[in-house]
Amino acid sequence: MANEGPALRERLEEIRRRGVAAFESAESQEALEAARIEFLGRGGLVSRAMSDLKALPAEEKPATGQAGNRVKKALEALLEVRSAAIAAAESGETDEVTDLTLPGRRTWQGGVHPVTRVIDEVCEIFREIGFTIATGPEIESDWHNFTSLNIPLDHPAADMHDTFYLDQGVLLRTHTSPVQARIMLEHDPPVRVLAPGLVFRRDPWDASHAPAFEQIEGLAVDEGIDFVEFRAAIDFFVHRFFGTGTRTRFRPSYFPFTEPSAEVDVTCFLCEGSGCSTCKGTGWVEIMGSGMVNPAVFEAVGYDSERFTGYAFGMGPARIALLRYRIPDIRLLYEGDAAFLEQFC
Ligand code: PHE
Repeated sequence: MANEGPALRERLEEIRRRGVAAFESAESQEALEAARIEFLGRGGLVSRAMSDLKALPAEEKPATGQAGNRVKKALEALLEVRSAAIAAAESGETDEVTDLTLPGRRTWQGGVHPVTRVIDEVCEIFREIGFTIATGPEIESDWHNFTSLNIPLDHPAADMHDTFYLDQGVLLRTHTSPVQARIMLEHDPPVRVLAPGLVFRRDPWDASHAPAFEQIEGLAVDEGIDFVEFRAAIDFFVHRFFGTGTRTRFRPSYFPFTEPSAEVDVTCFLCEGSGCSTCKGTGWVEIMGSGMVNPAVFEAVGYDSERFTGYAFGMGPARIALLRYRIPDIRLLYEGDAAFLEQFC
């Protein structure tokens, strides 16, 4: 007889399980009522089990009685919940409330690519100091791309190996500098233009190279333009784009179409010059190639090289975007992965 208490408690537990299943599966008040009668009715399973309590030895009664009450309470509570849910379903309501005042879920419509954003900002800043925007073709003649710019066709830059030739004398431009020649052929000085666009090189597809990438060309030609004006224009741009605390450094360099030529560095905008992984510990990052326009270029386009002087520069907005947004691999900019690009929009 000592086992009867646990056996009855187990029976109650079984009744609870079956009762829960019966109430939950009831889809109408009628079905629910039938289940109520079966489990909670006067002659129902719970009360019958409870009446068997009397036969238990005295020491088993309290625990088993409590277990029985818990089962009864649980089933009564569930009965109430189900009854309300069925009533709501029958009157066409659901317990999910629709809040019509909530804003709709927005789907991403696209945004401005980080490189385009850099290009737009650069153009906007130079516009303030009198520059207009020009474009030129991506398919160029070797005359515009090389010869007019004082780059002889036997220069290494003109090699098959560095350039995508399409046909005899026709190629994918390797830089935006041919737009300089096109502008000067069409317009007399003064000229102040910015020419953003894609360029193509037989470069590897790796973390810091892409075979197609953007450049922004700048060209200013007038009487009396000197290196001081050039530097002032670049400083104006750098302060606006990177911040007033940024310093510039002109490093001597060589380009056939500028003389003298310089690479322009700015103090690293992440560490502000103290040295970090972005600037490889030097405190400086390179942002463009530049120089005073070589008189040979003026001759090629028919400008009076005794009368006019000017400066030109070419920068890589993708590189600037990598630095600015701390993107470790240039390929990420060109893979078109919206989930990645979305974070910069
Ligand atoms: N065209 C050069 C390049 O692609 C950059 C440059 C432009 C340098 C204008 C000087 C003046 O690397």
